Amino acid sequence: ETVEYTAEATGKSGYDHYMLKEINEQPDALRQCLSGRLDELEGTIEIEELSDLPAPGSVHLVACGTSYHAAMYAATLLREAGVPAAAHLASEYATAPAPLAEDTLVVGISQSGETADTLTALREARARGARTLAVTNQVSSTAARECDDVVYIRAGPEIGVAATKTFSSQLVASLLLVEDLVDVVDDLDPLIEALRDLPGAVQEVLDTTDAREVAAEISGSDAFFFIGRGGQFPVALEGALKCKEISYEHAEGFAAGELKHGPLALVTSETPVFAIVTGDGERARKTISNIKEVEARDAPVVVVTDGRSEAARYADLVLEIPDTHPLTAPVLANVQLQLVSYHLANDLGRPIDKPRNLAKSVTVE
Ligand code: G6P
Repeated sequence: ETVEYTAEATGKSGYDHYMLKEINEQPDALRQCLSGRLDELEGTIEIEELSDLPAPGSVHLVACGTSYHAAMYAATLLREAGVPAAAHLASEYATAPAPLAEDTLVVGISQSGETADTLTALREARARGARTLAVTNQVSSTAARECDDVVYIRAGPEIGVAATKTFSSQLVASLLLVEDLVDVVDDLDPLIEALRDLPGAVQEVLDTTDAREVAAEISGSDAFFFIGRGGQFPVALEGALKCKEISYEHAEGFAAGELKHGPLALVTSETPVFAIVTGDGERARKTISNIKEVEARDAPVVVVTDGRSEAARYADLVLEIPDTHPLTAPVLANVQLQLVSYHLANDLGRPIDKPRNLAKSVTVE
């Protein structure tokens, strides 16, 4: 595959920052990612490049930074489909690799395909005999060349150091990959429909978001916490990472259930808590009880929700997302959190596209 980078695709096109432009490009990025991979008539999901890849017995996912959060999401999907899978920080996997079985597939997720830690982890896996697969945005990157297989996320060029559209595309590409390899859901039609509608749903979030107002409300707080469960746990971590990267504010993400095992000691009226609550099942019910715990400590609560549970009733501020399939909901929740971080950082006058001390692609270990 080749991707043409036109002047229009690499300029700011009237946006104040590349980050905001790239956030707004997400509907198109997702359309490109999905193109030719959904067959609505046949009711199938297929990644053409992978036609001869056998279903793995287990999967190790290795990645860094934002890509690690996509790896966590993919691992959660695989485990839900009954496949033993875990996400590993590439820098740790390189020196403390998990034991491989004969049919273990090692997947490296890397926007650039050049991150040294991720390349080292993939090389280590290969040296030990594993089949390796790269999920990347960069055609002919080192990861793409060195792995046995490659899935391109097709997000287009991303200039802002903080990953935005490439994370959304990594989530969707991971979902397609996992569904191609194993059956994630019993009934594929609702998932195909949700994926087809996802670019439009992201557009709806972009058009209707209250993120700017929310950011203005909570600006000046001591710290910002993010909680979620299941597929929304990596989104909570990503929400916090984005916040610290570009606003320089202290932010932490936690599994919602873990809050009470330590981090709750940090919660005060000066620490807003973002709670992601989608669906109306067991996870939503439990996260609502976690929201009540932080409310009792007077923390301002910002709920990101599809409105299917009563979570919004316990919120000081609400960020709504359209109702979608449980497996695509993390993409929509994340867009709201990207926008909150953007506005928080912008109001503080931070150099959004080039945060201090950070690089787009880190080629040292
Ligand atoms: C750097 C960037 C992060 C990125 C990470 C992994 O630290 O600042 O935004 O998530 O590298 O990059 P990759 O290209 O491997 O996805």
